[in-house]
Amino acid sequence: MQVMTLLGSPRPEGNTAHVLGWVEAALANAGHTVDRHWISDYAVSGCQECQSCKEGTVDLCSVFDDGIALLRTIVKADMLIIAAPVFCWGFPGPLKTLLDRMYCLADDMDGGGDYTTQLAGKPMALVVTAGGPEKDNADLLVKAYEAMVAYMKAVPAGALMVANCVGPQSLDAAVRARAETFGRQLAEITC
Ligand SMILES: Cc1cc2nc3c(=O)[nH]c(=O)nc-3n(C[C@H](O)[C@H](O)[C@H](O)COP(=O)(O)O)c2cc1C
Repeated sequence: MQVMTLLGSPRPEGNTAHVLGWVEAALANAGHTVDRHWISDYAVSGCQECQSCKEGTVDLCSVFDDGIALLRTIVKADMLIIAAPVFCWGFPGPLKTLLDRMYCLADDMDGGGDYTTQLAGKPMALVVTAGGPEKDNADLLVKAYEAMVAYMKAVPAGALMVANCVGPQSLDAAVRARAETFGRQLAEITC
């Protein structure tokens, strides 16, 4: 399985990168190919809400920037894992911008009725780290992820929340074990 991971933290060696690394290692150990993309390597502009993607007047999206390449890689992958720190009770801005752009992958505006998406049937997972608690904080991202998966007709592969993070050096063996278990569970998913 070709697994695309998307690191949505501005820190390439922060909490989220470490936790994601353990998840990725478990997937790789199970024989899967893991391809990490760091959001900060890409310049992605916001969705212009032009609806060209829904009208079929553009190939994918009318905003011709690095987002296009990322979206194409997401579509090609067998599984997508989004990894993000909680920033102000939501996804960090640059990652949120890309998530907005994923709107072009659905051929329907509001998710009503009969429509298709380019992520239909694709397993999608989430890894979240937070300085604060899970409740009313990290779980807000899980809720958004679940709604996104439903809208995209993707397959919910699960979410790992690591709350009360201090710094990467404080991530202990228990967190590592949870991340590796999560990675092994994802590795069992076949598409
Ligand atoms: C701008 C900013 C906003 C944050 N907002 C929250 C928040 O709303 N809730 C929370 O629990 N932690 C918040 N944090 C803490 C981060 O979520 C936490 O430290 C996270 O593990 C950082 O991951 P990273 O090292 O991968 O960037 C915030 C940190 C920053 C820099």
